[in-house]
Amino acid sequence: RNLRKMMECRSDINRLNNHFLLIYESLTPPGEEKTRQKQLLTLLERLVNKEWPEARLYLYGSCANSFGVCKSDIDVCLAIQDAEIDKSKLLVKLADILKSDNLQNVQPLVHARVPIVKFMDPVTGVSCDICINNVLAVINTKLLRDYAQIDVRLRQLAYIVKHWAKSRRVNETYQGTLSSYAYVLMCIHFLQQRRPAILPCLQEIEPTYSVTVDGIECAYFDQVEKLQDYGSRNKETIAQLVWAFFNYWAYRHDYTNSVISVRTGCLLSKQAKDWTRRIGNDRHLICIEDPFDTKHDLGRVVDKSSIKVLREEFERAAAIMQHDPSPWITLFEPY
Ligand code: CTP
Ligand code: MG
Repeated sequence: RNLRKMMECRSDINRLNNHFLLIYESLTPPGEEKTRQKQLLTLLERLVNKEWPEARLYLYGSCANSFGVCKSDIDVCLAIQDAEIDKSKLLVKLADILKSDNLQNVQPLVHARVPIVKFMDPVTGVSCDICINNVLAVINTKLLRDYAQIDVRLRQLAYIVKHWAKSRRVNETYQGTLSSYAYVLMCIHFLQQRRPAILPCLQEIEPTYSVTVDGIECAYFDQVEKLQDYGSRNKETIAQLVWAFFNYWAYRHDYTNSVISVRTGCLLSKQAKDWTRRIGNDRHLICIEDPFDTKHDLGRVVDKSSIKVLREEFERAAAIMQHDPSPWITLFEPY
């Protein structure tokens, strides 16, 4: 009887896993989307270099970090070395150039926290944000992409967590919930903490890549092709990891004292980072250290009411993973 129960249980787990894998696959963008993005980037390079021959364009965010689902917008960074530049003027000028090339809905947002120009390309249907000299974002995009090469379970988990966060409306920084970037860091940290570990800590290995950006040294081991087998001793499946991820954030994380840190692969104490009290608008109610800009807590957008919303959503997700007969549906029910 026990054997039969065990077999039934195993087939339930397999079924659950297959459902999650199907969701992951359905969210993965088709190859042609990359082609359309490249096409748009080539057009932008032509336009930008006509005006600023020295400028370079870099993709960052989900179109380049391998955590982009279908139909994502693209994020572009315009890197221009000119001590004299006035970002606002440059963005307005860039907007004029884009308009005169018939790009649609061109809007310079000069007062945003990260000033950008937004527009849509009617030929490829791709929407795009361009920022100026946000080079750190280009580097952290590479870090995320390198982590994604090591074990496919990171991409699977992050896709599911991002899809859950968007469905449940807890991926809205202007409402006090977390950015996609923060969720991916939570996934990386979580996989660094599994035993046996599924991901290494790339910043703790002898660096093979190193750049200094805005006075911050960004160095880590980037020869990830040498780490292909890293997670193979851990046999956990995506369904188990989704369960454990939500369980961790619902019941196990110490919100009062801990900071998650991908940079060290460990938990740090809030005390050590001096993130124990509110300073200005930074409340540190959930602490996620940026891997390079270590003064930056990705959780700083979270306030007293949104932390409640977030934790209730983690608890809801954990309960669904524990008890619901079809979590692959219930988990993503729109809020
Ligand atoms: N970023 C950052 N610091 C933040 C937020 C974002 O450096 N506090 C940078 C990161 O390089 C990140 C990029 O901006 O990859 C885009 O952030 P976000 O929109 O949160 O992530 P995406 O991966 O683009 O997710 P989505 O699919 O939701 O667009
Ligand atoms: Mg984005």
